[in-house]
Amino acid sequence: MIQMKHLPIGILGSGKGSNCRAILERIRSGDLSAEPRLVVSDVLDAPILDMAREFGVANAYLPPGRFRTRLEPEVEEQLVQMLHDAGVELVVLAGFMRVLHEPMLKAFPRRIINIHPSLLPKFPGLEAWKQALGAGETVTGCTVHYVDEQIDHGKILAQKEVKILPNDTAESLHARIQVLEHELYPDVIAEFSKRYGGSSQQVGSWPDK
Ligand code: GRF
Repeated sequence: MIQMKHLPIGILGSGKGSNCRAILERIRSGDLSAEPRLVVSDVLDAPILDMAREFGVANAYLPPGRFRTRLEPEVEEQLVQMLHDAGVELVVLAGFMRVLHEPMLKAFPRRIINIHPSLLPKFPGLEAWKQALGAGETVTGCTVHYVDEQIDHGKILAQKEVKILPNDTAESLHARIQVLEHELYPDVIAEFSKRYGGSSQQVGSWPDK
């Protein structure tokens, strides 16, 4: 019998970590062939770190340095080292509120993904569901994409649509988008893991449509 190798993933987040929970639960249920090697946060008391502990996953707080929207370059190098040491092959951003730059992008080419609560390229940036509501859209959703140096930019891998209802508030819409995020993100990671045979070359081979 051919033994399937679990895809080693690292999860980065700054906040509540509901996407992280969805991913860890899918792994625990045996339905997602991935191995969570490390959860890293730039926020000392982020709930995502408690969640990693709850699931018995190695976790670390990474003091971000003096910038607000990015990591200090030496800190980003340190992050690369931590992820390499943990054997991470796919980096999963789950509410990580900093833009990544060359150290990470060079170390993990086409191996860093992000989830965003809109149908990109529409509404990058903060509180995308509020932007969609404000723009009078009738449909929005969520997107998983490769990460590049721009905010919420990079090749789109998968999307799910959510109808905007006439009586939607920002909260009700955001809640429905998050339900779909929790399905879509593990599904996309499962696609990566299907093509993972134990070497990094295979991780980035997302099928071009
Ligand atoms: C999600 O809505 C995701 O789309 C965005 O940040 C949020 C993170 O939420 N990038 P959570 O921490 O996973 O609950």
